[in-house]
Amino acid sequence: MPTILITGSNGLVGRELIRAFDKLPEYTVIATSLSPDKITMPDVAFHQLDITNRQSVAQLFNDLLPNVVIHSAAVSAPDTCETDKELCNRVNIEGTQNVADACKAIGAKMLFISTDFVFDGAMGPYSEIDIPNPVSYYGWSKLEGEKITQQLNNWSIVRTVLVYGDTVELNRSNFVTWVKGALEKGENIKVVNDQYRTPTYAPDLAFGIVKAAEWLVYNKGNEIWHISGPLPLISVYDMALKIAAFYNLDSSFIETIASASLNQPAKRPPVTGFILDKAANHLNYKPIEFTKGLEKLGL
Ligand SMILES: NC(=O)c1ccc[n+]([C@@H]2O[C@H](COP(=O)([O-])OP(=O)(O)OC[C@H]3O[C@@H](n4cnc5c(N)ncnc54)[C@H](OP(=O)(O)O)[C@@H]3O)[C@@H](O)[C@H]2O)c1
Repeated sequence: MPTILITGSNGLVGRELIRAFDKLPEYTVIATSLSPDKITMPDVAFHQLDITNRQSVAQLFNDLLPNVVIHSAAVSAPDTCETDKELCNRVNIEGTQNVADACKAIGAKMLFISTDFVFDGAMGPYSEIDIPNPVSYYGWSKLEGEKITQQLNNWSIVRTVLVYGDTVELNRSNFVTWVKGALEKGENIKVVNDQYRTPTYAPDLAFGIVKAAEWLVYNKGNEIWHISGPLPLISVYDMALKIAAFYNLDSSFIETIASASLNQPAKRPPVTGFILDKAANHLNYKPIEFTKGLEKLGL
């Protein structure tokens, strides 16, 4: 029975992965994260692990001998990476190196979770063969993580786009909960109208990652996978309008704004989104569109 170890299990993506693998009796699942466990599940062992501590990572992997490590832990906020490059380096690059080295030492396969922010956003949507060219420190650090991963013998990279899901128990907001929460309180929000994405329903992403992990377990080859919501591209502003319409909230509180006027520390790629043909053909990946995702979220 393959053992899967997941880093960043307290995160939006990590938590969804734990849920997905927990439903599959053919896998033993080990959750790890920096902080104490936020998602206690009876069948899932949890170990607190700081990936920047090289010795701890090596020791834990050696004790538990996972077959596949899904590396989801990261500083995932682009603005934090831009303003605290030292932290970003330590977690996203050195931490990933520690995970990769520990995988190498025990012969584990590594699946790295990456991002559409490795692209410059000039020509989205992107397929797996398009050339990365990050415009932010976060995007650059994740691309470095991809390169570290690709040095192993057995690896997989899953890139994804703007993930939304139920984050209530995680103490973490995402775009849907942010817009819904603000409109419910009657607060004005500014939303960009010049960034286009294929937003990803977290359980769909988890399904795609499970399939990509399976691909790795059965030695089908080292691959980059694009796993996101479906095309067509949707602007972040249109997403906000759909959220307002879905929850019957007043959209007049939503103000459109150009990205340049927001003065965020990290530059965002304007048009990303993914072409999903490879994942559809080989992993049977069929994501749901945004409004359907809102329905399923049941917030
Ligand atoms: N969310 C998105 O829209 C999105 C889009 C594209 C790509 N991604 C990628 O998907 C992955 C997961 O993102 P997410 O949204 O789930 O992020 P998240 O909610 O911010 O979670 C990140 C996790 O990383 C953990 N972490 C941070 N520093 C750590 C350290 N030093 N040692 C061990 N764990 C550490 C955190 O642990 P604690 O909570 O325990 O402190 C947290 O659980 C990331 O690699 C991100 O780049 C996310």
